[in-house]
Amino acid sequence: MLEISGLTKRYGETLALSEATIRFRPGTIHTILGENGSGKSTLVKLLSGIVAPDSGTILMEGRAVTARNPAGFRKAGFATAFQEVLIAPDRSVTDNILLGLDGLFRRHIPREARRARAEAVLSRFACTRIDPDALAGALPLASQQLVVLARAVARDPRVLILDEITAALDFADRDSVFAFMKRTAATGAALLFITHRMDEVMALSDDISVLRSGQVVRSGPRGDAAPADLLALMAPEGGRHG
Ligand SMILES: Nc1ncnc2c1ncn2[C@@H]1O[C@H](COP(=O)(O)OP(=O)(O)O)[C@@H](O)[C@H]1O
Ligand SMILES: [Mg+2]
Repeated sequence: MLEISGLTKRYGETLALSEATIRFRPGTIHTILGENGSGKSTLVKLLSGIVAPDSGTILMEGRAVTARNPAGFRKAGFATAFQEVLIAPDRSVTDNILLGLDGLFRRHIPREARRARAEAVLSRFACTRIDPDALAGALPLASQQLVVLARAVARDPRVLILDEITAALDFADRDSVFAFMKRTAATGAALLFITHRMDEVMALSDDISVLRSGQVVRSGPRGDAAPADLLALMAPEGGRHG
C-alpha cells in the first residue's frame, strides 16, 4: 500500500534519515521504534509534507506521491497526530477537531451538527469526557493530545500516523486508543505507530521497523522478535541498555 524507498533527509550536518526503505501493509499496525534522535519524527514529517526529502521516493498504491505540502498529503490519504501537541488554544475543541475539514462550507453546517461530529470522533477512542465547547488551550495536556488525535482520525485516512501520542495519556485512555488502533487497522488502513516504549511495541505491532541514527536497521513482520533483540538493535554502536 505504502512504500518508501531510499528516503533521505539532512538538516545541515545532521543526517536525520538515511536511505530509509520500508514497506507498510494495509490492515496492519507498523511500529517505528528508535531512541531519541534516531529519525522517527523526521520520517513522520516526510510522510506528512512538513519537510521535503533530499532524495528518495514515497509510493502509495504503486504511484509516487508528489505532494510537497501537508494539504497534498492529506489529499493523498495521510493523516498525522504529531508528537508536539499542536492546537489552536483560543478555539473550541470542535473547531480544533474539524479544522480544515469543513473548509468553505463551515458557515453552512449548523453548530449542533459540527459539535455532534466532533463528539462522535472523540467517542471512538477517548474514555475521558471532553466538552466539545471548551477552549482547547484550557484543557489538560492529556485531553489536548486526544483532540489532536481526533483531528487526524476525523479525516478517516488510509494511512494514520501516530507519533508518540501516548506520552501524556492516562492508562484508561491509552488502552482505549490501542483498542481503537486495532479496530482501525482491521478496516484495512495502514497505521504507523511511533514509540520508544517496548511494552507498547509488544502490545500492538504487526510489523516493526527499527531506526538507529537515521538508518533502518530492521524492517518487517514482528515474527518472534524479542524485546531484548529490539533493544540491542536500537542501541547506538557499542551502546548498552540497562
Ligand atoms: N529542524 C531540525 N533542525 C536540525 N536538526 C534537526 C531538526 N529536526 C530534527 N533534527 C535532528 O535530526 C535527528 C533526528 O531527529 P528526530 O527525527 O526528531 O528524532 P526522533 O523523533 O527519533 O527523536 C536528530 O539528531 C535531531 O537533532
Ligand atoms: Mg520524535
